[in-house]
Amino acid sequence: MLNLGIVTISDGVWHGQRSDESGKAIRDSLAQLNSRVVKYEVIPDEAEIIASKLAEWADEGGVDLILTTGGTGLGPRDVTPEATLSIVDKVVPGFAEMMRAQSFSVTPFSMLSRAVAGVRRKCLIINLPGSPKAVRECLEVILPAIPHAVEIIKGEVTEHIAPDTGKD
Ligand code: MTE
Repeated sequence: MLNLGIVTISDGVWHGQRSDESGKAIRDSLAQLNSRVVKYEVIPDEAEIIASKLAEWADEGGVDLILTTGGTGLGPRDVTPEATLSIVDKVVPGFAEMMRAQSFSVTPFSMLSRAVAGVRRKCLIINLPGSPKAVRECLEVILPAIPHAVEIIKGEVTEHIAPDTGKD
């Protein structure tokens, strides 16, 4: 069972101007995995708040995977990647590389997301873009690798058997 934390990073949702459709999209997509949501929070686009929330959850030890949504673009308030990089022990470039590459066939704007991923202690942290559509598209790309990534981080496997995606 994978323990999931969801952080929606959005000034608009934080101020109650709109509902959190992207957080819901994460829940819906992750239902495909053997997972449960153990933490959920909406926070504003403030680097210090983002960094301390991610570090707090990772350090508590009860969350295997934190998915953030929002704040990965080029806007003046978009600071999610910087905040994430400030607290991870290891950067894991492959998740964001594949999200951008695979999403390019859907929209050329995929290259405008600066999302990053990394590991802090035993917790995998992955940024997703802000729109529910982008969340669904990006998760479709990376979901096949997530259970194995989490197992390796937790030290539960030594063997690497790829899921049957027809690509190995
Ligand atoms: N990736 C996918 N798969 N689908 C999308 O619709 N939108 C892009 C990009 N990545 C998009 C996507 C757009 S328009 C932007 S501005 C960036 O993600 C950053 O989004 P964010 O600032 O909401 O995180």
